[in-house]
Amino acid sequence: MTISINDTGYGIEDNSYKAAGGIEGLTKLVDTFYHYVDTLPDASIIRVMYPKDLTISKQKLAYFLSGWLGGPRLYKEHYGSISIPGIHSHMKIGTQERDAWLFCMKKAVDEQTFADSFKTYLLEQLFIPAERIRQTCALRGSEDVSDHRPHKGGDPVI
Ligand code: HEM
Repeated sequence: MTISINDTGYGIEDNSYKAAGGIEGLTKLVDTFYHYVDTLPDASIIRVMYPKDLTISKQKLAYFLSGWLGGPRLYKEHYGSISIPGIHSHMKIGTQERDAWLFCMKKAVDEQTFADSFKTYLLEQLFIPAERIRQTCALRGSEDVSDHRPHKGGDPVI
């Protein structure tokens, strides 16, 4: 029988945080994610955007995910409020960069001991802010917005 994501309870209270194994599980996930960002040739387009030393980047992402998944709001406690599209809006993040980020995250998620239903849920949820970032960057002019028109090759943009 196929598990429906709607039946899992993820997204309610701290269920997702618990499903991720709390801050310990998220720290492992984020360490694996940044390992792939750091080493995969396909991720080199985003690796160059991060600082050489990834220690703080790792901590910030793990802290953010903690609150985002219904657990303690560690990012807010340590660094204050954050808008995910806003903090990325000065960066050049188009479809390729978004997909490289999601590719590393998928490889990292696949390696964790999470329930399969939670892996699917988490990757679906992460697509939402990742795509929102891409849209915000496109609107801010970091990328040619016309690249993302649904009917490429249609009428020319005037
Ligand atoms: C769409 C592809 C994405 C790319 C290419 C990207 C890239 C980056 C880069 C280069 C930084 C700056 C790192 C630094 O200077 O320390 C950053 C920071 C951050 N990113 Fe992303 N990111 C993406 C998506 C996401 C998503 C989907 C999330 C959340 C679910 C996220 C959460 C964060 C957080 C929490 C920070 C730290 C912000 C701070 O400086 O306090 N990112 N990201």
